[in-house]
Amino acid sequence: MQYFLTEEQKTIKDLARKIAEERILPVRAQLDEKEEFPWSIMKDIADSDLFRIFVPAEYEGLGYGCLELCLALEELSRACSGVAISFAVSALGSYTLIDYGSETLKRKYLPDIASGKKLAAFALTEPTAGSDASAIRTTAEKVAGGYLINGTKQFITNGGEAAVYTIIALTDKSKGTRGASAFIVDKDTPGFTFGKKEKKLGIRASATRELVFQNCLVPEENLISRPGMGFIMAMKLLDKSRPSVGAQAVGIAQGALEAAYDYTQQRVQFGQPLILQPVVQNMLADMALQVEAARSLVYAAARNVDSGKDYTESSAMAKVFASDVAMRVTTDAVQLCGGAGYMKDYPVEKMMRDAKITQIYEGSNQVLRSIIASELRKRKAANK
Ligand code: CAA
Repeated sequence: MQYFLTEEQKTIKDLARKIAEERILPVRAQLDEKEEFPWSIMKDIADSDLFRIFVPAEYEGLGYGCLELCLALEELSRACSGVAISFAVSALGSYTLIDYGSETLKRKYLPDIASGKKLAAFALTEPTAGSDASAIRTTAEKVAGGYLINGTKQFITNGGEAAVYTIIALTDKSKGTRGASAFIVDKDTPGFTFGKKEKKLGIRASATRELVFQNCLVPEENLISRPGMGFIMAMKLLDKSRPSVGAQAVGIAQGALEAAYDYTQQRVQFGQPLILQPVVQNMLADMALQVEAARSLVYAAARNVDSGKDYTESSAMAKVFASDVAMRVTTDAVQLCGGAGYMKDYPVEKMMRDAKITQIYEGSNQVLRSIIASELRKRKAANK
């Protein structure tokens, strides 16, 4: 399938593929087994300037868009999505700052994020607020010298590893979603510590931790935009980021398809390679078809984000479709590899474990289906 990528887009894809094949493939099983954060690969990604993709040129970035980020993420995820998400979350943790931050904040933080010297993270989820993001309880009270943050964030990707955190907290509890605000918090701020490191089913190379705020004083200039805009900025940020989760899912599914193809070509049963069995060919064809359909939707959604037009629905669709495809394709890949596929010596069981989270994070597929249905209703009401 041709996607009419520019020369620059092809270069980004090739760079990411080179890192994936030369640096990630040899160590992915070990990273998964030991739940080891991939710092040396983050350095390779930084040295290849891939962190600059999502940062505007004025702040030492390359000023590319969602599609370029998706191309890099797909290639990295084809090898290991635990590594890919650690990279992707630096974009997630930077978007609110890029889109709404003051000039001073952007000059202070973005060059180091662009160079990969500092990783970023985004913290919305709490023990009481997952799909119902408006149920957050972390507060940011206005005091002399800034805002005093108190509360706990849960399941935060890059938690403990990132140097810069975008935090959503309530500045006015009485105003519901209109009472939430976004702040930049440095890792070494007094009163900010890390709780439990989660042990996960998949993406085990990535770090997921609790963030604990106890009377953590953040200077007023670290407030992004105006008080009360935090929830809406978080929703917009997630709309922008969801095609990236779709791209991770496409990469995982592509990796699983290739592994299953190779296995069925080599594995001889009933006197011939498995791939000569029509039932196996049907499964491989269905897997390839689903991966290509998901890729088309993800690239289209990413282009929609880059166009700046309303992309809530297309981003949700790409994330839901691609993640459901990743789950089905990786499960079929395990099936095609049989007993071997179930063993850790083969990569497909890891891919199946890694695929599951893409149906859950950055908006569960149930929440996203309800967003798609609500956009449908709005279109119907507007007669569009
Ligand atoms: N864009 C802009 N504004 C939006 C918006 C959007 N997509 N969605 C909602 N809003 C606005 C609404 O217009 C409304 O504004 P007003 O105050 O002006 O009326 C306000 O936000 C509240 O909207 P809702 O009443 O629809 O809010 P809700 O409480 O019903 O929320 C929800 C609905 C969509 C389910 C939301 O809770 C949600 O998105 N949940 C999923 C959370 C999520 O994706 N979490 C991911 C965490 S990050 C992560 O996973 C990262 C990682 O680990 C890698």
